[in-house]
Amino acid sequence: MSEERDSDGADPIARPIVNIVGERVALGPLHRGLLSLLAKWDNDFRTIDLGGGDPRPVTAEENAAGWEPLLRGERDDWIGFAVYALPDLRPIGVMNIRDFTNPHGTAEFGITIGDPGERGRGYGTEATRLLLDYAFTVLGVHNVWLDTPAYNVGALRAYEKAGFREIGRRRGARVLAGRRYDVVLMDCVAEDFVPPAKRAMPEID
Ligand SMILES: CC(C)(COP(=O)(O)OP(=O)(O)OC[C@H]1O[C@@H](n2cnc3c(N)ncnc32)[C@H](O)[C@@H]1OP(=O)(O)O)[C@@H](O)C(=O)NCCC(=O)NCCS
Repeated sequence: MSEERDSDGADPIARPIVNIVGERVALGPLHRGLLSLLAKWDNDFRTIDLGGGDPRPVTAEENAAGWEPLLRGERDDWIGFAVYALPDLRPIGVMNIRDFTNPHGTAEFGITIGDPGERGRGYGTEATRLLLDYAFTVLGVHNVWLDTPAYNVGALRAYEKAGFREIGRRRGARVLAGRRYDVVLMDCVAEDFVPPAKRAMPEID
């Protein structure tokens, strides 16, 4: 246990670093200490399917090898955040904004709240708002887009609440258990975005 303690009694050494603090969630840099959680979430077939991936077993080594270049910051058009629930800063998910280094000001968005027990509690909506605010105000992006299977109703609802809207569908582009589903495309543009009360970037006094 460290000698120094914050006024709230928390151990500042054990506490994760955060960059953006909202009302229910905080976002901070990804780190190696999250790898075992990431391996667990990346092996949850339902989570992977909802995220538009193709479920298969992923070994700890393979998973770490996939995350390591991102943890080392080697992909310069990919910025990831760990998502922590407040007030105890427990890690509940990961999110990213990617492909933003293009002349058109577009970027793609992704998020996973890893533990199903942490979903439906408003965390995903607030985290999405905070990352959109970051993309528009810090990265200077104009248009953020995503796609998700049409049966991912929790995601569609969270994204709509955060400021995305449906812009079209890829018809029958997703198969689950032999049935075809649409893939929904959504975007959010800077001028339509209503920023959250707690901003990603502190305002100038
Ligand atoms: C999508 C995801 C990030 C959303 O985060 P979340 O914390 O669950 O979202 P929120 O709690 O902020 O909002 C979810 C909303 O959907 C609603 N919802 C959830 N499941 C639902 C369902 N089956 N039917 C209808 N509404 C549903 C919730 O009630 C909530 O709406 P409300 O606040 O109006 O009640 C998260 O659920 C997740 O990671 N899911 C698994 C992976 C995934 O889908 N990734 C995204 C791929 S594009």
